[in-house]
Amino acid sequence: MADPAITIRSIPLFSALSREDIAKVLGKLEEVSVPSGATIFSQGDQGDAFYVIQSGAVQVIVEAAAGRREVVAVLGAQDGFGEMALLSGEPRSASVVAIADTSLWRLSRESWNELIEKHPSWLLHFCATISKRLARLDAQYSYGRDAYRSLAENYYASRTREHQQFLRRAALLDWLDAETAGSLLRANDAAGCIRDLQTSQLPLLQSGSDHRLEFHPLFGEFLRGRLAAIEGSAGERELHADISAGYESLAQWPQAIEHALAGENWRRARMLLIEHYGGGAETSANFVKTALDRFPTGFFHGDTALIQLKADAMLALADPQGAYRVYQEALAHQRSHVGVVQYQNMARALYERREYNQAVQCLRSALKILEQDVGEHRGPSLLRQSDGEPGERPFSRQKTRYSPALRLRRIVRKPSLIRWLGGIAGAAIWAYFWFGTPAIGLEPAATKLLGLVCLTLI
Ligand code: CMP
Repeated sequence: MADPAITIRSIPLFSALSREDIAKVLGKLEEVSVPSGATIFSQGDQGDAFYVIQSGAVQVIVEAAAGRREVVAVLGAQDGFGEMALLSGEPRSASVVAIADTSLWRLSRESWNELIEKHPSWLLHFCATISKRLARLDAQYSYGRDAYRSLAENYYASRTREHQQFLRRAALLDWLDAETAGSLLRANDAAGCIRDLQTSQLPLLQSGSDHRLEFHPLFGEFLRGRLAAIEGSAGERELHADISAGYESLAQWPQAIEHALAGENWRRARMLLIEHYGGGAETSANFVKTALDRFPTGFFHGDTALIQLKADAMLALADPQGAYRVYQEALAHQRSHVGVVQYQNMARALYERREYNQAVQCLRSALKILEQDVGEHRGPSLLRQSDGEPGERPFSRQKTRYSPALRLRRIVRKPSLIRWLGGIAGAAIWAYFWFGTPAIGLEPAATKLLGLVCLTLI
């Protein structure tokens, strides 16, 4: 029998090791024999060892969704396997099954770790192996993609115009059920089109979450490409608006909101969110937050109802710091206001003391002040909106007309004007008492003194 040290040394993986190290490795290698057909380990197992094939052969099998098994590699003498789980700490990425009577060397995780610690360059070898494997897979995937695309193209091109239109539009739906798709897209033969998809040799549909039927991702992508080319982005937005209205009539609010957002119909999305999620259901906090993240900043920051809704969602997600940031950012988009600044300072102090919930309450009050201040003129729940944002605004930016009484109240409320008026009135009263010395039953000196007191006070 050949000297095991020479055999090990001839394996590329171990060729860089010194004679001494080889001797140490040999002491740690455990010989294992497996008969043809035996499973060495299964996908999902914990990784506890690395293997090198001494003789024989194994196949690497990946178990895909729906019980499909795919052989991704066949390995023979001198090949190694089982390194991925050891490197990543993840479970085994594939099952390995002997396809002939096979002799293996098994290196335990501990010995593998020791070897890596001593010879970091060993890692480079594994990185190179894994990179080559990935490159091969990428090439296979892009080839498969092109092949799929051309078959999908053939399928699509051989359908009638109505059928093609249904397919393009249906690609915007979350799932395909004949009744809903028919009513949302006003298609007469939705059931026939879906049956036709199901009977195709090409996998055009797949079973999605809750076992609902949906387009295969590659086919969906192809159809959406067609839709964009034919209908344009404006047409797509209109379609989303139609679908949103359809979902609304079916009382399917999340879908109605999704499509209103996709169609950039911000007013509609706002109304649906406030009407159906304004109560603050905790289970939907994530949905609400994600939906609000999609609004244009200018629109969002101009609407206190949306700001409150997002802050409530963050609180429901146990993220008071996030809620604090929502308010701070919204307030930063507004003109400074004495009362608001005071609340902001208070909130900052509380935040620094990690009293996040109180800090949030302070900012909520600050926002209320702004809302009251601006609301008289712009309508409830609206604030100043920052300029230059895309999308529709909740209300038009008309010049506000004030009634005379309101105008006076606004003027009188201005702090600088009040000071000036006070100064003039004080000076006038002082001058009256000082120079006019009216007969009010006081000595002239006392009357003058009274004028000075009035000046100071007023
Ligand atoms: P590990 O994930 O630990 O367990 C399964 C092993 O199969 C994996 O490490 C690799 O060593 C090997 N393996 C996985 N995918 C491939 C592939 N595409 N080609 C060759 N070997 C693979």
